[in-house]
Amino acid sequence: MCGIVGYVGHRDVTELLLEGLRRLEYRGYDSAGIAVQHGAEISIRKKAGRVHELGKLVEANPVAGTAGIGHTRWATHGETTDINSHPHVGGNGEVVIVHNGVVENYTTLRAQLQQRGYVFRTATDTEVIAHLIAHQLSEQLKLGSDPERPDTYVTAVLAALAQCKGTYGLAILFRDAPNLLIGARLGSPLVVGVGQGEFFLASDPSPLVGYTDEVVYLSDHELVVLTPAGMELRHRDSGSLTPSIQTIEQTPADIELGDFEHYMLKEIFEQPTTLENAMRGRLDDDEATAKFGGLNMEPQQLRRIDRIVLTACGTSWHAALVGEYLLEEFARIPTEVEYASELRYRNPPLTDTTMIFAITQSGETADTLAAMRECKRKGHPTLAICNVVGSTIAREADGGIYLHAGPEIGVASTKAFTSQVTVLTMLALYLGRMRHLSYPAGHRIIQQLREIPQKVAQALESFETVRKIASKYASYDNFLYLGRLYNFPVALEGALKLKEISYIHAEGYPAAEMKHGPIALVDPNTPSVFIVPRGGIYPKVMSNLEEVRARGGPVIAVACEGDDEVADMADDVLFVPEVDEFLQPLVTVIPLQLLAYQIALLRGCNVDRPRNLAKSVTVE
Ligand code: F6R
Repeated sequence: MCGIVGYVGHRDVTELLLEGLRRLEYRGYDSAGIAVQHGAEISIRKKAGRVHELGKLVEANPVAGTAGIGHTRWATHGETTDINSHPHVGGNGEVVIVHNGVVENYTTLRAQLQQRGYVFRTATDTEVIAHLIAHQLSEQLKLGSDPERPDTYVTAVLAALAQCKGTYGLAILFRDAPNLLIGARLGSPLVVGVGQGEFFLASDPSPLVGYTDEVVYLSDHELVVLTPAGMELRHRDSGSLTPSIQTIEQTPADIELGDFEHYMLKEIFEQPTTLENAMRGRLDDDEATAKFGGLNMEPQQLRRIDRIVLTACGTSWHAALVGEYLLEEFARIPTEVEYASELRYRNPPLTDTTMIFAITQSGETADTLAAMRECKRKGHPTLAICNVVGSTIAREADGGIYLHAGPEIGVASTKAFTSQVTVLTMLALYLGRMRHLSYPAGHRIIQQLREIPQKVAQALESFETVRKIASKYASYDNFLYLGRLYNFPVALEGALKLKEISYIHAEGYPAAEMKHGPIALVDPNTPSVFIVPRGGIYPKVMSNLEEVRARGGPVIAVACEGDDEVADMADDVLFVPEVDEFLQPLVTVIPLQLLAYQIALLRGCNVDRPRNLAKSVTVE
């Protein structure tokens, strides 16, 4: 949430910052702003609304310089107005900052600063940090510190941050120290891009792509001092650190739309490829199992595991639910799925042989990170299933499995879900083969997994049919999504996709549970989306479908190709190819992603930037 970009070097910074903000806009899009330094002057342009509004403002009032910072905001404190947009100014303009995070004790700090004569111009918590740094800087200068030395500014920043409770990713410019950019992190991600005589700072590597592939990820309580001449990494307590430079593998094509109208659509259509990537090198035919390079656990340790806790938020939580079914069916290990936001404050009994998996696309979700840290603190092996390489959760986990799905930029998660389910299927196979799962059974699972990318490609052929069905239902205001067993989490996911991008009320339920309450909602204005592919439970779901029909509710069914029975009963059908039951979520979710996309388009919603949301929820 909130995107930060910064630069110091030899290029003209303005377009670089604006392009960086466009790439980071998925993290928040309430307002945007930049600050550009030229000599002992810092010019600020900021505006409520999207980055292109800021672009227009900058075009009308150009700024130029070779150092600057930028921000795209997801509002926490203070409305989305021009004045509350970042950057914020401290003192009389001697400090300018952008911030991602929350200052929990900002009311107390604000009152103290006001008593000292600092004037607040905004309703944000961030302005407190700006004034605090300005105050500490003036104290340093009064004590005789040298304004030419970066240390003076570092000391002021550290003293200010020591008073703040909460989280921050910060980029800071100083009016009287041109070409000095300081970054600091506690809880909100920050990465440094290392160039030749130039350095970048960003919330994630996307603004750096095309400029440099060398990065340094900051950890909590670290601060970085950047000038065109070099970088210095410091820890709050232990002083100078040697930066560990890593290489990122993103290319500009990964973050471009190509021929697609929206990132969400691009990412939906990438799924045959992303699933290939999730499986590449991980299926072992000789042993009829899966293999993972980064679990960092000995097979003996893994064999002793007798309980698994999967923790996640949102769509990743839905993938975890599918994982629960898979792990219990194939590995016979009791598995629970916990909302990370609950687990972080609960105290469930976990034993030495409990294994925790944090499941996350971004690797930055605040609740998932906190839940993982809480489990780690108690000494449990804590692993991650994560997409973003180098993210905080990926770095802090004891081990894990990457999705290799490439950047997911559309705010609504699509390809990450199917990759997570694929990885969980391979994990269930791996742990199952260490236990009761036979060689032939393992072999069958591998064969079926290998066919999945092709089956997903077939499911994507429903695109045109979905478009027609969407136009029939786009004006309805309430939907039910119903499925059973492996398709119950898909019902939850289909409903979430619809509500988050089209703002239609939708509820997902286990199909049979509907009789215990939600059936009261069924009427001719409430369509039910039944996920009813062939399988052991098929006749039961068909009975549930009949119950809805009997009450006049319109039915859209997701069914196996050639299923005439469903075609006769439902008002509309979306066909998917037949696969074994445990793999059904990977194909049945596809038309539901497309349906949400098409309905949102027809309702004129911003598919990639739905209101109130942001990708990567880094606040609690
Ligand atoms: C829904 C969606 C969110 C995320 C959730 C967790 O489409 O994108 O519900 O799934 O915020 O995010 P990650 O997986 O990054 O931890």
